[in-house]
Amino acid sequence: MSGVSFNFSNTQFPDFSMAKAHLHRRYRFSASHRLHSEQMSDEENRATYGKCNNPHGHGHNYVLEVTVSGQVDNNGMICNLADLDECVRCQIVTRFDLENLNMREEFANIVPTTENLCTVIYDILKREFRQAHLERVRLEETMMNAFEISN
Ligand code: NI
Repeated sequence: MSGVSFNFSNTQFPDFSMAKAHLHRRYRFSASHRLHSEQMSDEENRATYGKCNNPHGHGHNYVLEVTVSGQVDNNGMICNLADLDECVRCQIVTRFDLENLNMREEFANIVPTTENLCTVIYDILKREFRQAHLERVRLEETMMNAFEISN
């Protein structure tokens, strides 16, 4: 097979032109909540939310994972990580860290379940971070459970 030869000299490698890449980044914040709806009686609230309806509330150390996607640019990046960090820090971490979620305006009309918190965070980041496509927001409430919103 000595007559077979390959010439890679004109091949651009790696070729990222068609590849969709994902960036996952994790953040932490702590907040408290009480699962309670004004639309329901105390008995209905207890039946629906169980011990999470405790009048004194309880806290979580949330782990937030944000996933953005796009093509790798000429700088070798999907987006500027420092800009993503700045956006999440200003728009999410500062907003919710050490807060009672029930007192926040975002939850004036919705119960601050972690599903709803995840959705609120997704909506904010979708609006505020435009450098890459927001693929997914995943919120770990405890070591044992997490919620995610994706499109
Ligand atoms: Ni909880």
